[in-house]
Amino acid sequence: MAPESQQIIDRTAEFVRQKFLHEGSGHDWEHIRRVWQVARALARTTPGADPLITELGALLHDIADWKFHGGDEEAGPRAAREWLLSLGVGEEVIGPVEAIIREISFKGVGVATPMSTPAGQVVQDADRLDAIGAIGVARAFAYGGYKGRPLHDPAVPPIAHDSFESYKQNTAPTINHFYEKLLHLRERLHTPAARAVAEERHAFLEVFLGQFLREWEGQDL
Ligand code: ADP
Ligand code: NI
Repeated sequence: MAPESQQIIDRTAEFVRQKFLHEGSGHDWEHIRRVWQVARALARTTPGADPLITELGALLHDIADWKFHGGDEEAGPRAAREWLLSLGVGEEVIGPVEAIIREISFKGVGVATPMSTPAGQVVQDADRLDAIGAIGVARAFAYGGYKGRPLHDPAVPPIAHDSFESYKQNTAPTINHFYEKLLHLRERLHTPAARAVAEERHAFLEVFLGQFLREWEGQDL
């Protein structure tokens, strides 16, 4: 990578790290750091995944997430553009990075979320790998706690959201999120390397849910 590209990445990492260091909803710097590392690794084996766009997309993907900005889907792309312009980054990089941020989020089981570049595919895969497995379980409950949601309520059935609007408005218990999103992520990965990693993480979600539901009803007593 060219020295000036490396400098742009280093400055962006430091900017994001400072901003997210003490975040408690599961969207902390450590989440972004993992997505960055995993995306960088996936990009090496993904044809056409531009390294600079991949790394900047990963670092900035949650910079102003709609979940924390009143549902505003443009807050993230706008914040990323402003930051990259301040570093003198060109439009040929800013455009694809904005697209990654705009396209990356899960938007409901019934809503397709295609990524328009190979860099976007690896960043989305890395983000989704961090939503499953043991860390995924931890993050789901961190987010649910942050939002004041109950852990589980058997009287509230999961919903297969078929629009981003209904997915966004959802306030269901955290266990529902497993059925409404997390268990579907394995099937929606783009790269073979991410699919391989997802197998064990997905199996862990199923083990966790089985045990949780048995304990809920005291069936293990
Ligand atoms: P996305 O943009 O696809 O939502 P993020 O990187 O913003 O991905 O991560 C979302 C994280 O927040 C995931 O770990 C996910 O499990 C958690 N999360 C989002 N919505 C909920 C919810 N309703 N209940 C529990 N966890 C949630
Ligand atoms: Ni993320």
